[in-house]
Formats: sequence, C-alpha cells, structure tokens
Amino acid sequence: MILHEGYNYARKFFNASNAATYDSVVCFATLGRDKMWKTQIAKIVDEGEFIPTTILELAAGTGILSSMLDQMSDKTTVHSLDLTLDYLKKAREKHPTLSLINSTAELLPFRAETFDSIVSSYLAKYIDIETVVQESWRVLKHDGVIVFHDFTFPKNPMIEKFWKFHFLLLRLSGKLLKEWAPTFERLDKLISKTNPWPGDTIRYLRKTGFVKPFCKCHTLGTSAIVSARKP
Ligand SMILES: C[S@@+](CC[C@H](N)C(=O)[O-])C[C@H]1O[C@@H](n2cnc3c(N)ncnc32)[C@H](O)[C@@H]1O
Repeated sequence: MILHEGYNYARKFFNASNAATYDSVVCFATLGRDKMWKTQIAKIVDEGEFIPTTILELAAGTGILSSMLDQMSDKTTVHSLDLTLDYLKKAREKHPTLSLINSTAELLPFRAETFDSIVSSYLAKYIDIETVVQESWRVLKHDGVIVFHDFTFPKNPMIEKFWKFHFLLLRLSGKLLKEWAPTFERLDKLISKTNPWPGDTIRYLRKTGFVKPFCKCHTLGTSAIVSARKP
C-alpha cells in the first residue's frame, strides 16, 4: 500500500510523549468546542430507526468519542481503531470495555458488512479520503451511517484573523507544552492545505454509492461534520 503523506504528519503529531496530555490539550486547543462537536456526531449516529449495536470509530485516539458512543446503549459495542498504539493504550486505561484495534483506516481488518455505523473525528486531513470511503463502504452494513468530522479553514476574513491569532497562541504554548510543539507548529498549515476535505468527501461518498450526503459547518466555519448513509 502506498502511504498517504498525512501518515507522516500523524506519526510526528501523535506519540508516546503526548498521549497522556491529549484529552486536556484537545479541550484547550478547541476552546472547549470538541465536546460539542463530538456530541453532534453521536446525535447523527443515534438518529436512525434502530439503535446501532456495532460502531467503528476510525482514528479513535484516546477513546473520547468511543466512550461517549459506548454509553448510548447497553446493546452497543464500540470498536476503536487507531494508528498510534500509545493512544490506544491510554484508551484502554480509561475505558477497559472498548474493543481496540491498532491499524490504519485505509485498510480495515474486518469482514464485509460488520458495522452499523462508522465515525471519525479529526481523521480526514491525514488520509486518502477515497480509499477510506471505499473501505468503510465494504465494512458497513446496509442502512449504515458514516460520519466524518474535522477542522476547516474559516471563509469569513474576520474569523480568519481570529483563527490565525488562535494558532499563533497555540504555537507559543508549544514552548511550555514541549511534547505538543511539533503539532502546534504545523497544524494550521495542514488544515488550510486539506481544507477541501468536506467537498471531496461528499464527492467520494456519492461516487461510492452512499446516499443523502450532508455537510454541516460548526463554530463559525472552523469545523465541519459530513455524514451519509449506505442504502
Ligand atoms: C487529533 S487525534 C484524534 C483522536 C480522536 N479521534 C479524538 O477525536 O479525540 C488524531 C488521531 O488520528 C490517528 N490517525 C491518523 N491517521 C490515521 C490513519 N491513517 N489510520 C488510523 N488512525 C489515524 C492518530 O493516530 C491520532 O490518534
């Protein structure tokens, strides 16, 4: 398999040195919005006619969203997949009931039609979206829901100024939080470079056969959630 260039970013950004502080940093770096965005993802998963019994979270990291989904119902099993083993170890410490898989989202080690829903938060900028959409199609059951969430570059020039200032502050905070310095140094550039991800995702979802693709922007255009259904 040819590795997408996002793989190198993911390897540099997430490792043993920053797994322990990830949960606090994601809250701080998103000014508390992370919880609200993840709540929206959980709502989309919960909107279907049936309670999903098997959910796959791609790039689950330390399991913040997986644990929210796990609490949806006693009947729900969440499978949390991530590239970074040290993040999964953290997830295991916090949520011993989650099923953890150390793998890449581009090659899913599951049989066809295994999951009722597939979700991801902050993955789109690291992947070949078309490959992940196709793999997700394969392992998703009919009538299953897919949800992608990630940052977006704001369109409004005023918001853009605030956004750039926010990332300047994050870069400065990397002087104190040294384990996060490489991430804060490059994250804004990666977000602006991969900004077409919602449109690209919708295009690949349609091309693969998904129906009702939907994109909703959040928090002044700094984040988006794209969802669709496998008919
Ligand atoms: C910002 S963290 C997000 C973690 C979690 N989704 C959350 O919202 O808290 C990004 C995660 O994506 C994972 N990742 C990046 N590329 C990946 C890939 N190709 N396959 C699986 N995981 C990947 C990283 O290992 C990292 O844990």
